[in-house]
Amino acid sequence: MKNSLSFAIGLLSAAMSGMALAAEVPGSCAVEWTPAALSQVLKDMPKADTQRGKVLHSSMFCASCHGVAGESLSTNWPSLNGQRAEYTYKMLLDYQSGLRFEDAKSSMMKVEAELLTKQDMADLAAFYAAQPLPVAAHVASVPTDKLIRKGDVASLVTPCASCHGLHGQGGINETPALAGLPREYFIRSMENFSNGSRHNDGVQAMRAFAKPLTREQISALADYYAPVADK
Ligand code: HEC
Ligand code: HEC
Repeated sequence: MKNSLSFAIGLLSAAMSGMALAAEVPGSCAVEWTPAALSQVLKDMPKADTQRGKVLHSSMFCASCHGVAGESLSTNWPSLNGQRAEYTYKMLLDYQSGLRFEDAKSSMMKVEAELLTKQDMADLAAFYAAQPLPVAAHVASVPTDKLIRKGDVASLVTPCASCHGLHGQGGINETPALAGLPREYFIRSMENFSNGSRHNDGVQAMRAFAKPLTREQISALADYYAPVADK
């Protein structure tokens, strides 16, 4: 009896130190996506109830940071309105597992995502997807326009528009809309892909595309996709 008790305590403290370690190094235990795993998870996404998502958005206090309909309240935080449901669903899974944890700002979302079931995530995602997408500024200089439409063969950057849509309206599956992403959030995201602190992208695609870009190019792209009100 005594032995089994001390064994149980030993197990418990081992589990707790494991937990403490995971908490100190978020994302360290989370496994990166393979294309097969990602496509299976998106296929298994629960059938969503938009109305329930709307209720959760208020009752889970998402609205306090993300606005009444998912519109960004700060130029440093993302907008969620009009975003593709698959992308939002994947982000909530990634925050929950700790795979997405690029900086201290992600800790707010990790705490939130830990409270959600997969059904909650799908319902919230459907609610945001049903809201109108913010309108992007869409003013680009010739080099920025070229980067968006044609990419850069020398540095192997595929045109952003080929995946994210010509107007940043989003592509297929988890490829997000970029239209209306606030400037500072856009820049921070590109820098985090570039330095690898954001590494939840499947097949490392965004890490590879962000790396060769200069600060000036990223800033010009941020201007292009920024909401009209940001300008
Ligand atoms: C305390 C403020 C706060 C609350 C409450 C909050 N969020 Fe967030 N959310 C943020 C911040 C800040 C970020 C950007 C974090 C980062 O850079 O990783 C974010 C990012 C996100 C993203 C990623 C968007 C993208 O474009 O990649 C999603 C999706 C999201 N939040 C959904 C939710 C949902 C759903 C809830 C409610 C269950 C919620 N948030 C509650 C502050 C908050
Ligand atoms: C091969 C397709 C592809 C190309 C080309 C591409 N992206 Fe992406 N991008 C993605 C996918 C998929 C994601 C979602 C990654 C994830 O799961 O976190 C993404 C995510 C992003 C995000 C994060 C959005 C958010 O809300 O956090 C930004 C910003 C972004 N891309 C900008 C760009 C820019 C700028 C270019 C052109 C230089 C570009 N992308 C080229 C597929 C692509």
